[in-house]
Amino acid sequence: MTAARVALVTGGIGGIGTAICQRLARDGFTVVANHHPSEQDAADAWKKEQTAQGLAIGTIGADVSSFEDSQRMIAEIKQQHGPVSVLVNCAGITRDKTFKKMEEAAWRAVIDVNLNSVFNVTRNVWEDMLEAGFGRVVNISSVNGQRGQFGQTNYATAKAGMHGFTMSLAQEGAAKGITANTISPGYVETAMTKAMRDDVREAIVSGVPMRRMGQPEEIASAVSFLVSDENGYVTGANLPVNGGLFMH
Ligand code: CAA
Repeated sequence: MTAARVALVTGGIGGIGTAICQRLARDGFTVVANHHPSEQDAADAWKKEQTAQGLAIGTIGADVSSFEDSQRMIAEIKQQHGPVSVLVNCAGITRDKTFKKMEEAAWRAVIDVNLNSVFNVTRNVWEDMLEAGFGRVVNISSVNGQRGQFGQTNYATAKAGMHGFTMSLAQEGAAKGITANTISPGYVETAMTKAMRDDVREAIVSGVPMRRMGQPEEIASAVSFLVSDENGYVTGANLPVNGGLFMH
């Protein structure tokens, strides 16, 4: 029997991250959920909840906006479980403000956590994927990286940047057994969308052709397909999971 593949999900204890971890664990991967070091207590409680559901999912604290911390995280995972062959870059934050009111800190925080993290983590697993001749990278972007959003110049920039990264990485990995894809969720029921002003959220959701928000599990099932052995030929794609909110 061959050992289960190791999957790392950054931002793994968040709304979408949790559904992805659960789905990949059920798919038979050895799953490790990354969380910010400041969320240690939440991560411990999260792990207990997963265990109660019969899911053995590892957790690891690391600030993915730091290259050094990402490097340490990957080395620890490798030592404990083996090299990462499936990477889901899902860590993300919002600091919504109209551009006129946006401070440099809000710009930098979002670019560091949502975009620079993708370099920091992927760079540290890439050589192992090349060596193994197999890898799956999925970047969780956003509909707002495709169409922009009032109040999100920082977030939309980071999310659009992720797909430029995906397309380039996909070209470098294509002949080496590695696929790289983006998923662009629309508005999904998580703490992140709950934090929005009710009137703003309701106005946006009323414009979604399906007239509802997405569920985290609907993003997870797209990830499940993209990282599966069944998918060897979809690479460099940007898969929208948005209820019809944006089509191109
Ligand atoms: N287009 C044009 N004008 C708009 C507008 C829009 N979409 N939205 C608001 N305005 C106008 C308002 O009418 C108002 O005009 P006046 O000054 O003339 O009255 C002005 O812009 C200010 O609007 P707000 O009252 O909304 O401004 P605010 O400073 O209170 O709030 C904001 C700013 C917090 C950024 C708010 O606009 C907002 O929440 N925007 C939505 C951001 C968003 O979608 N976030 C998604 C979070 S979840 C996520 O990111 C996950 C994902 O991937 C989808």
